[in-house]
Amino acid sequence: MLRARTAIENMKEYHPPLGNRDGLRLDFNENVGGCSPRVLETLRALSPEVLNKYPEREPGERAVAAHLVLNAAQVLLTNGVDEAIHLLCETYLDPGDEVLISVPTFSMYEIYALATGAKVIAVQAGADFAFPIEQSLAAITARTRLICVASPNNPTGATATREQLLALVQAAPQAAVLIDEAYIHFGGETLLDQLGNFENLFIARTFSKAYGLAGFRLGALCGSVVQMKMLRRVASPYNVNGVALECLMQALDDRAFLARYVAQVLEGRAQLEQFYRERQIPYWSSQANFVLAYFGEFNRALVAEMRRRGILVRDRNSDPGCAGCVRITLGTLEQTERLLHELPEALAGINFVAKPYPQQSKPLSENA
Ligand SMILES: Cc1ncc(COP(=O)(O)O)c(C=O)c1O
Repeated sequence: MLRARTAIENMKEYHPPLGNRDGLRLDFNENVGGCSPRVLETLRALSPEVLNKYPEREPGERAVAAHLVLNAAQVLLTNGVDEAIHLLCETYLDPGDEVLISVPTFSMYEIYALATGAKVIAVQAGADFAFPIEQSLAAITARTRLICVASPNNPTGATATREQLLALVQAAPQAAVLIDEAYIHFGGETLLDQLGNFENLFIARTFSKAYGLAGFRLGALCGSVVQMKMLRRVASPYNVNGVALECLMQALDDRAFLARYVAQVLEGRAQLEQFYRERQIPYWSSQANFVLAYFGEFNRALVAEMRRRGILVRDRNSDPGCAGCVRITLGTLEQTERLLHELPEALAGINFVAKPYPQQSKPLSENA
């Protein structure tokens, strides 16, 4: 009988709640307002050649590099940040190596790391979900080969400071340190300017969030020239599809579209956070396009009631430290208005009573 590798057999299945996502999708941190009209125009005018020829990534890499003020050799376009994480794991991890993450965070770091047979060392953030820098520094060992930090983080919206991130980069020269800047358009400080200073620093960017192009599966991994050469050995030459590449320039150039959407998210985020304050619902101040809040034992009922009202929100109950928490993505101001109309009614409908967030922190955990 054919058997998967032991590392794969030992993994749990990961099922994001896909399927039946009709309604206002405030559950996946996508840009639910759409994408740049310039991208749509390019799509309508596509020539058949874009489909019948193998896509060339390099012109897109030059464009992204120019946009980020980097050298093209420092940029690898990827099939979303997901693939960037996968490539880092394939490039740097041997079975038994350690991957350091702080939880709660984006699930794909753990999934791709475990698939290689590496050990995941998960440092639990405290009740404020601030980045646990001291515990993370203390958890670095000679076997630490990859450190992944999302800043802003998903699902908490918390950021790590530049000083904290650089301390990690410097404390683990034997490890690739990935700073995942998927939500950087909504808050936090980029470390792009530091790429030339540290050979082990990597930064990931995506077109899935602010740009509204999650369906394109387009991301960028940026790093030092010497290390990006290693990653290019592993990457498929045709990992990014031609349609996405054809539209990339228009997406990058339409800065006005991006600025309009980001401004609406920031205003909507302030309104949602104010609503939570007024209702004394515990929430974590966010630097991303979503806000995590604590609804205690009402979490499932709230998600179901919001769905009944045509709005999808995401139950984060099973994330470490997030029991009872629900994450809501912000969209356009019109969508936020609808959200802030339905949310109080949904809470009334389930007889919700706000309670303080109980401390749920766990000590350093290890999932081999
Ligand atoms: C922190 C973080 N990184 C990466 C991703 C995935 O990005 P992409 O769509 O580019 O694969 C997500 C998606 O939710 C995310 O939250």
